[in-house]
Amino acid sequence: MTQSMTQTVLSETPTEGIRQITMNRPDRRNALDRATYQGLIDALAAADADGSVRAIVLTGAGGCFTSGNDIKDFAAGGMDGPRVAIDFLTAISTTKKPIVAAVEGFAVGIGTTMLLHCDLAFAGGSASFRMPFVTLGLCPEGGSSYLLPLVAGSKRAAELLMLGEAFGPEQAHEAGLLNGITAEGGALAAALDKAKALAALPPQSVALTKALLKRGSATAVAETIATEARHFGERLQSAEAQAAFMAFLTKR
Ligand code: COA
Repeated sequence: MTQSMTQTVLSETPTEGIRQITMNRPDRRNALDRATYQGLIDALAAADADGSVRAIVLTGAGGCFTSGNDIKDFAAGGMDGPRVAIDFLTAISTTKKPIVAAVEGFAVGIGTTMLLHCDLAFAGGSASFRMPFVTLGLCPEGGSSYLLPLVAGSKRAAELLMLGEAFGPEQAHEAGLLNGITAEGGALAAALDKAKALAALPPQSVALTKALLKRGSATAVAETIATEARHFGERLQSAEAQAAFMAFLTKR
């Protein structure tokens, strides 16, 4: 069964018990505009509510995970864009069913930080990660200023979040963002494989284990997402950030 929630988010059932959610704006490298964020929120809620779904696989179309927030929306300013992004982060960080990410190509900005909220993550050998928040005159989001030091250690977190340089799957694995690296093009198969394994396990026990794993950090994660969002919203209006967005959009 294939069912499209919105044009830019595909929701499918590739095999019984698995809901595959695909970010689908390949001509924009799956950049997340408002409709796409809303599509993801709706798809996660539908998967959580559907008793037949045991595990969720999150991926991107066209050999790319996502280039992060749509920079046109960033440049347009206003609080509407950030609000739906925060709603998405709240949704992905509180989804009850296990989420397995499959990353090929680029995972930029929120494309990298959303991995901190997935339970398992696999990437193809030529995947490229980047959190260019400072480069863009912004600040960390998605709870990353709290979660990344926890999983990667403080020095590595500072390096990745302050310098904002691109890094490969090996570095992402060392930083605790991935469970495994596959050959290029193999991430989705690996993710589906683990999702099937999860789907075969007692669902209440899987859900309880996920809830227990998240329990210790849930309050801090929610508080960090909200605090980062306040600063991020202010930074979006800054001359530093607006200049960076214009430079990207005019390809300077
Ligand atoms: N927002 C809006 N448009 C984006 C986008 C984004 N985040 N990422 C890519 N696009 C657009 C490009 O402007 C380009 O548009 P065009 O065809 O009209 O020229 C198209 O998608 C393809 O992108 P391009 O840059 O040509 O692809 P690439 O494969 O050479 O590079 C990236 C891919 C992801 C490395 C590069 O597009 C990029 O750096 N994007 C911005 C990422 C970013 O900073 N995100 C915000 C983080 S907070």
